[in-house]
Amino acid sequence: MAEFKFAKRLDNVSGEAVKEILSYMSDPNIISFGGGSPAKEAYPTEFVREALLNAMDKVPLQMLSYGQTEGWKPLRELYLEQMVRAKGIKADLENVAIGTGGTQGFDLVTQTFINEGDVVLVESPTFLSAITTLNKIGAKLVAVETDAYGIRMDDLEEKIKTYHPKMLYVIPTFQNPTGWTLPNARRQKIAELASRYDVIVAEDDPYCALRYRGEEQAPIKSFDETGHVVLLDSFSKIVSPGIRVGGMVAEKSIMEKMMAVKQCCDTHSTLLVQEVCAEFLRRGMLKGHLEAIKPIYLERMDAMLNAIDKYFPKDISLTPPEGGLFVWVRLNGDVDTRQIVKRSVKEANVAFVPGCPFFVEPEKGKQCMRLNFSSQTPDRIEEGIKALGKILCE
Ligand SMILES: Cc1ncc(COP(=O)(O)O)c(C=O)c1O
Repeated sequence: MAEFKFAKRLDNVSGEAVKEILSYMSDPNIISFGGGSPAKEAYPTEFVREALLNAMDKVPLQMLSYGQTEGWKPLRELYLEQMVRAKGIKADLENVAIGTGGTQGFDLVTQTFINEGDVVLVESPTFLSAITTLNKIGAKLVAVETDAYGIRMDDLEEKIKTYHPKMLYVIPTFQNPTGWTLPNARRQKIAELASRYDVIVAEDDPYCALRYRGEEQAPIKSFDETGHVVLLDSFSKIVSPGIRVGGMVAEKSIMEKMMAVKQCCDTHSTLLVQEVCAEFLRRGMLKGHLEAIKPIYLERMDAMLNAIDKYFPKDISLTPPEGGLFVWVRLNGDVDTRQIVKRSVKEANVAFVPGCPFFVEPEKGKQCMRLNFSSQTPDRIEEGIKALGKILCE
């Protein structure tokens, strides 16, 4: 076989980490704390079936024709009212669009703004797929220090002054992988710094609806006076990740450029699933569905925190999250969770995601592990954490 000359900017790009997570998730013999999927019990299966049939009964030709790049207008209107303005964000229809999951939203913002070599600030640690997306485009990643409330404002301002970044990528609520949440004061400060230093903020907020305890925080976008913040959210954790629907909110000229880029990617996202999400909002299901699924997740989160307390070594560090899907654990001592996961899959049939791929400098994550609690029942969580704890205690 020939040795192909792939694009130079893909030298650092590999889908292996995500591929491995997905393979463990689909193996029924493995208790996987690896993915970021909602609970199977939380999927509105019957509603989706009915909504798809309704769409084909009521608007079949619109569903099967080409649509507008910015999305299915009924969904954009409902999304604007129920999920954007309802959070205190000042926006009009021209500021919102629908994409193929939050993943596409972030890809579009990076393609819209980032030239090869531009600096992008990210949290340390951050979402591993975002690192891949930024590497794909040739960005230079600089990590901003974090504490248990997310990125530290002193380090952020210092890094802005030192590196003159084009963009900050931030996951403000129940962050992936740490579960941490930025308080309102830091959100407001981020919006101010972005305006003052002319930095675009990609605010990736797919978990904000999944709060089980504590007080809701306002989106960074709601503090944005100058249009520097682009908000990305998603129906993946609310309705289902398989339908691949996400929302974007941006200043008009930014949105127009992003839509020009989206046109090159996929012309528009699938209309049938956009109509399913429109119907979900039209029927007023957002509040009721969240109220139904949050107790399932709270029970699982507590089951995981209790099991960790019972079975893990006592010298770990962990900040209990108030929502989202993940618990982030830092082990003590000279350990490498990349080796531990190989052992735990082989000996105990338990998978998790080692910390390294979430860091710009991967070695910094050697002691860390991300544990997802949403996709296993409390019994399986207890069983898996007990087996993992036994390995960790050795
Ligand atoms: C922080 C973050 N952003 C984006 C996504 C992708 O979401 P979507 O399924 O909407 O593409 C995820 C999914 O796990 C995530 O954790």
